[in-house]
Amino acid sequence: MSDDMIFHVKPALAASAHVNASRAGLMGNHALNDPEPFWLEQARRLDWERAPQLAGGGGFGGDTRVSWFADGTLNASVNCLDRHLADRAAETALIWQGEDEDASRRVSFRELHEDVCRLANVLKSLGIERGDRVATYLPMVVEGVVAMLACARIGAVHVVMFAGLAAPGIAGRLRDSGAVLLITADEGRRGGKRLPLKAAADMALAELEADGAGQVRSVLVVAVTGSAVPMRPGRDRDYAALVRSADRACAPEVMAAEDPLLILYTSGSTGAPKGVLHTTAGYLLWASLTQAIVFDHRPGDVFWCTADLGWVTGHSYVVYGPLANGGTTLLFEGTPSWPSPGRWWREIDRHQVSGFYTAPTAIRSLMRDDPSALDATSRQSLRVLGSVGEPINPEAWLWYYGRVGGGRCPVVDTWWQTETGGIMIAPLPGAVAQKPGSATRPLPGVCPVLVGGDGQPLEGEAEGHLCLERSWPGQARTIWGDHDRYVQTYFSTYPGYYFSGDGARRDADGYYWITGRVDDVINVSGHRIGSAEVEAAFGSHDAVAESAVVGIPHDIKGQSLAAFVILKAGAAGRPGLEAELARHVGQELGRYAAPDLVVLTDDLPKTRSGKIMRRILRKIATGEHDELGDVSTLADPTVVGALIEKLRR
Ligand code: WTA
Repeated sequence: MSDDMIFHVKPALAASAHVNASRAGLMGNHALNDPEPFWLEQARRLDWERAPQLAGGGGFGGDTRVSWFADGTLNASVNCLDRHLADRAAETALIWQGEDEDASRRVSFRELHEDVCRLANVLKSLGIERGDRVATYLPMVVEGVVAMLACARIGAVHVVMFAGLAAPGIAGRLRDSGAVLLITADEGRRGGKRLPLKAAADMALAELEADGAGQVRSVLVVAVTGSAVPMRPGRDRDYAALVRSADRACAPEVMAAEDPLLILYTSGSTGAPKGVLHTTAGYLLWASLTQAIVFDHRPGDVFWCTADLGWVTGHSYVVYGPLANGGTTLLFEGTPSWPSPGRWWREIDRHQVSGFYTAPTAIRSLMRDDPSALDATSRQSLRVLGSVGEPINPEAWLWYYGRVGGGRCPVVDTWWQTETGGIMIAPLPGAVAQKPGSATRPLPGVCPVLVGGDGQPLEGEAEGHLCLERSWPGQARTIWGDHDRYVQTYFSTYPGYYFSGDGARRDADGYYWITGRVDDVINVSGHRIGSAEVEAAFGSHDAVAESAVVGIPHDIKGQSLAAFVILKAGAAGRPGLEAELARHVGQELGRYAAPDLVVLTDDLPKTRSGKIMRRILRKIATGEHDELGDVSTLADPTVVGALIEKLRR
């Protein structure tokens, strides 16, 4: 081992973990040398209606048609619910903890099964069939989980939307996915405030109707806060009333392994967000396998992934992974420090959480809280701590390990993406020593490759673009409605490889250190935002002619957005316009996407062919004026000096 800071696997864990070092080695070799039997053996984790005889996979060339376990049939909701009814019907499948500290609810596997069946019957009675898309726009409430599993039960494809999205984003996703039914809520709660969800959904639906795209036939409204909201007769229905009178048995649809399970929208470097499509068996297997081995799942575990259901982390590690494994999953409605610091730590004690999974941005902000809030709790129930969404800086890692976990719990830094369905690179806690800041080593069957500037794979210690060489079951199969874009986005940069859009370094021990995005995707607090999307949002403001958006380092959020904006001729700058423009972007995309810095300018640094030089804008925004590099290729190099001057003032 190199002399980086190393945290070795504790002997007790090495002895008891699902996967110790020798088993990890065996699995890795088996996957590489004998992939068919290896993957078929893994597939036995799932309950099949008809077990597959084929593993499959597929190569990354030409049209890139990936398919796994293609001759198998199953139902994802059966795997999360029915199969646990024989042994643990009365055990808790889900703990809902409300923002109000006194509001919580434990839902057993039997109850969750019943809730899912009732909603599945409601959906069927509203004409939803296999393959139809059903969208949700909900806060962190039990109905969000029920909706996903009810879709899975009848073979409908769920399209879960983050409750922080604004109306234009909702409209875009509804339109692109062709969803025919929407499940939303009157309002959500956040930090003592209320989010007007039904109102935002209504705006989105009105926008669709105005465009002649009124495909959403029904809207189910969950009463979360109970406040009165407008209901359109014939379209809008009260969720609770429908579910109450529905039958509580619903036979699951038998789905082919490759039938679509879900579409989830995520940002890329160009264009509007893309609908990443995951299919039934491969995705579910990947969520279940990775949750079990990366968090060393044990019977009776209470697993808390703090991600919103609207992101892939919520899909895989709040819902599908833990429930498929028969664990208890915790769904928390609130925020880390509300109504007072230490809220998360109190919930860990209250619900005896054993696996805790969150993002570096949250860890960094919690480090700044008064330490007495942490010290007032025990956290003795914790066994494994996880991190996801962005690179974790060693300082935050050490605090998480030492202060939150008391030096007892391994920290698993997990690298993956919406497109990978589940974790790809992470230390198996009983097998792999950890180095703070490194996601460490690929999971068995995952084959990362670093590609250099010349497009060739690099050997040994190296830094390059992070690619994957072989298909894995959790891989996204396509972009909804646009397979060419899928091939173009992921498989055309380096033929024969899946390109992640991230950069990484591999050290002498074969450990991976993710360095961040190498494309125009910006990662703000673990949320992916495409610069093109933010620029389009600026462009929809009357006063804006052109803009360029870049990501700059931020102490807590990892990155924040800086925008350089050219106003239209005649649109005079006025006091407060910068803030108004930032607010406008927040209203278009959601508050999380509002830039921290807006600079009005007369010109942008462009090459002679008109390409904006974002690299230079980043340096200007961070004040690294000595490191601007070569500006001689700019059409007008004086722009740079003018911008620097402007930011000085
Ligand atoms: C980043 C979230 C460093 C990365 C699961 C990736 C990470 C993007 C890590 C995917 C990590 C995720 N270390 N960077 N452990 N995990 N990322 O699709 O840039 O929302 O490409 O999926 O987050 O974000 P997404």
